[in-house]
Amino acid sequence: MCGLDTEQTAPRLNRCTAFIVQHWGIDDTGMAAALSKAFLRCLIREHTQLSRDHLTPELMLHLITPACHLWSAKFENSPFDDPFWAFYWPGGQALTRYIFDNPHVVRGKTVLDIGSGCGSSAIAASLVGASKAVANDIDAVAEVAISMNSEKNGASVIPDTSNYLMFPTVPSPDPSRFDIIFMGDMFYDPDFTQLIDDWLAGIGRETMVLIGDPGRLLFMEHPLMSKLKPVARYSLNKTSQLENNGLTDASVWRLIM
Ligand SMILES: C[S@@+](CC[C@H](N)C(=O)[O-])C[C@H]1O[C@@H](n2cnc3c(N)ncnc32)[C@H](O)[C@@H]1O
Repeated sequence: MCGLDTEQTAPRLNRCTAFIVQHWGIDDTGMAAALSKAFLRCLIREHTQLSRDHLTPELMLHLITPACHLWSAKFENSPFDDPFWAFYWPGGQALTRYIFDNPHVVRGKTVLDIGSGCGSSAIAASLVGASKAVANDIDAVAEVAISMNSEKNGASVIPDTSNYLMFPTVPSPDPSRFDIIFMGDMFYDPDFTQLIDDWLAGIGRETMVLIGDPGRLLFMEHPLMSKLKPVARYSLNKTSQLENNGLTDASVWRLIM
């Protein structure tokens, strides 16, 4: 279902558990967290449409499309804080297409999809035979959307909200323990791009890093580019081109240490 038109301003959902504790009088935080996840599932179902209209029609994903009320709703009328997970970003589309087209790259490997959003790259990796596919996103709503998308597509993805990009300053599992790291469309902000570049310098050589990006200027002109080798390029479909202000294609790069 998609397009529930509500004028009420719902609580911002990544604070949903706190809201339930405070307003529903439930002081068992475990139960509040379970209720909040169930509540988020309902809201995601209500406010998105299941879509295959992208570069990987193998996958059906809960997305906010032009047919959804939230596509044109004001921020204050949205129940979600910045629902990045509800859009399938061009870089993520290219990376996920690459995984489906090159299953040998991930088969039998452990993969970590950082900034997973809707979960597509981790889901594709799981479907083509990765031994473990972790979909990491610091957004708690994305965690729920990833679980829903994974279930919908019959994948076995492990959602994870650790902040790997702060490792080792903030404790998280060691990212170098994975065979492959994916990053789909993570280069949309200059400071964040620099942070990722510095972070990638600490990743061991034995970990393969694959990046998807539509060639945003910020990314193309960053010194990181000198450490990347292009491995694939895909034309976006018409809908994605329109939704992304005329971007026409997106590519996949491999980090060469
Ligand atoms: C532009 S979206 C890309 C989503 C997905 N990879 C795709 O291409 O469709 C960036 C995602 O990164 C997540 N993110 C931002 N900072 C992060 C961090 N430090 N660790 C993990 N995820 C993060 C956001 O919540 C968002 O879902």
